[in-house]
Amino acid sequence: MPATPGILFGKGATANVFEWNDNQVIKLYSKPNASELGEQELKAHAFAEKVNLPVPHLTGLTQWQKQPGLVMEKITGRPLWPYLNKHPLRLKKTARMLGRLQAGMHRIEANELPSLSARLKSLLEQFEPSGHPLQQEAHQLLQQQPEQLRLCHTDLNGSNILVTRSGKMYFIDWSTASAGPPLADLAFTLLKFFRSAQASKSWYEHQLLHLGQHLFLKHYLRAYRKTIPLGSQATWATLPNWITIVSAASFQQAAPGEHIRLRQLLRRYFL
Ligand SMILES: Nc1ncnc2c1ncn2[C@@H]1O[C@H](COP(=O)(O)OP(=O)(O)OP(=O)(O)O)[C@@H](O)[C@H]1O
Ligand SMILES: [Mg+2]
Repeated sequence: MPATPGILFGKGATANVFEWNDNQVIKLYSKPNASELGEQELKAHAFAEKVNLPVPHLTGLTQWQKQPGLVMEKITGRPLWPYLNKHPLRLKKTARMLGRLQAGMHRIEANELPSLSARLKSLLEQFEPSGHPLQQEAHQLLQQQPEQLRLCHTDLNGSNILVTRSGKMYFIDWSTASAGPPLADLAFTLLKFFRSAQASKSWYEHQLLHLGQHLFLKHYLRAYRKTIPLGSQATWATLPNWITIVSAASFQQAAPGEHIRLRQLLRRYFL
């Protein structure tokens, strides 16, 4: 074991990821509730590995200068969008792979993980300004949804999907994984993709990214639907409701009206 972590691999909201040795990284949690975060992520990541999802091989939790750190396999690859910038011709294959992998994850019962519905309920209670119509709408919609306890990553955004040069995909950052309804997790991913497309800087890049993301979404959602037996068309039709619920629950990162724009986009092209 090295005396100190090596180069910084990634800086996140909750942790910093450093090279630990030639084959491993260490994710050092920086928040005051670091131990709790570390334990939560350890449990969910170990579960995902046990059910053969594509995750870095986990070694376990350790301590460095009294900070808890999760040691795992180092993945030599790029996050999803930089990977596709480098390999644009792999867009369709990559989108389909993600759809299949995420749908496969959603077939797995994960009763031992924290409840996603409970977390969404508590996040909606914190909505500001309290009493806003969106808060009430989301709360009512949540109450109408049936309880499901499938494995949900809940933060499967471009930077938590690493792809190697040979095209192998890995899901990282299991800190908020939960047991919940598949379409709630799909809504988290769609919203995160939508936000990253909206946030791109230049007009030109924005257009390209938008077009690329529409194409990506088309292949991703098709592969997802083919893989998961969601049942009836009626179940699939609840996806826009989940967009509203998840957007309201993540109100601190949400742009005003984003759920309306994303719902329109989905209805127009994908539902
Ligand atoms: N096993 C790994 N191999 C290679 N790089 C990694 C690995 N794990 C994490 N990283 C890099 O570190 C970054 C941050 O990791 P991670 O997403 O787990 O931390 P985080 O603090 O939870 O991030 P955030 O809160 O911003 O989502 C990743 O985006 C990735 O670039
Ligand atoms: Mg992350």
